[in-house]
Amino acid sequence: MFEHLNAVPPDPILGLISAYNEDPNPSKIDLGIGVYRDDSGTTPILRSVREAEKILLDTQTTKTYLGPAGVAGFNSAMTDLLFGPASDVISQKRVCTIQTPGGTAGLSVAAHLIQTARPEAGVWASDPTWANHLAIFPSAGLEMHSYPYFDSEKKSLLFAEMMQALEQRGPGDIVLFHACCHNPCGVSPNPEQWEAVSSLAAERGFTPMVDIAYMGLERGVEEDSLAVRLFTDKCPEVIVASSCSKNFAMYRERVGALSIVCASERKANDVATVINSLTRKNYSMPPSHGPAVIDIILHSEELTGLWLQEVNGMRDRINNLRKTLSDKITASGISRDFSFLERQTGMFSFLGLSVEQVQRLKTEYSIYTVNSARVNVASFNEGNMDYFVEALAAVL
Ligand SMILES: Cc1ncc(COP(=O)(O)O)c(C=O)c1O
Repeated sequence: MFEHLNAVPPDPILGLISAYNEDPNPSKIDLGIGVYRDDSGTTPILRSVREAEKILLDTQTTKTYLGPAGVAGFNSAMTDLLFGPASDVISQKRVCTIQTPGGTAGLSVAAHLIQTARPEAGVWASDPTWANHLAIFPSAGLEMHSYPYFDSEKKSLLFAEMMQALEQRGPGDIVLFHACCHNPCGVSPNPEQWEAVSSLAAERGFTPMVDIAYMGLERGVEEDSLAVRLFTDKCPEVIVASSCSKNFAMYRERVGALSIVCASERKANDVATVINSLTRKNYSMPPSHGPAVIDIILHSEELTGLWLQEVNGMRDRINNLRKTLSDKITASGISRDFSFLERQTGMFSFLGLSVEQVQRLKTEYSIYTVNSARVNVASFNEGNMDYFVEALAAVL
């Protein structure tokens, strides 16, 4: 059966993790993996999550199957969070939300839904985009294309070029957007630009698909849903894949959701049945622990308040790290301009280093990052930043 299978190269990030783990250098830094870290370099369990887990442990009465759509309270709380509790799509029952095992499964179910609805549909993603986007959609049989997005010289958004490219898209095309904290480049449209992009979607008739994996980590939980809300206000159909891995720090619990906005309540009900048939033959039923915890948090005023404080804390720490790193690089005498670090948002930025410089960081300094020189800013702390800046100066 398997004699013709050859090993595939490891995912660059996963390969990096094992090399990092095996490195005995006490000064080593892992800038590759995309998880939030605190000042001590660990990824803590949020206090709001701990409190909700205690409640869940005391009150959960069964571990029987959940049903294909998952935890109903989680789905409705996520729908409120994404679209706003008073939104028309909710009152008109035009949106169906299902819980998925992480944002990745939400995207994968979306890919199969698109393929079922319109197999010839193409998906346009920003250049660059999260590497997994480039794998998920083709693996469902969809053609993948890109639109200009990031100016690697100026480290900023290619807004005019992006708009020009999207003007060519129309009905039957899917255009994928990162709602906030773009992975990998850290650059997002500003609110006026989102207004223009969403108006263009309505005018041209393409279907926006929003990947929102870092809600709360750019400007705020409510603010970061702007793209979702603008597209939903203006377009009859919108696809939203959300992840709770980062903003609830529940990475390993695999919590996410897929929301499909349809032109009518009847169509939303039809789509829900198609999604259920797609997930049934894939993972059958979603897991319960993570979404049940988030259901408890989002239905408790006190725990929601605590969670918001914690998300805001993560965001503030990332933004402070961005500023401190940029300041330290300037103070070190490095002449190249790294002030973009401060202007960009979220966990990721491209440092703009060559593959050779990335390799030197690894072999000479035990500083690990992927060849594209995308770094996770949240991996820095007071204890490792000076060492990093010294290494950066050396390889530059
Ligand atoms: C842009 C983007 N989308 C989606 C995800 C999915 O995350 P998860 O499947 O862990 O919830 C990630 C995770 O890194 C991401 O960066």
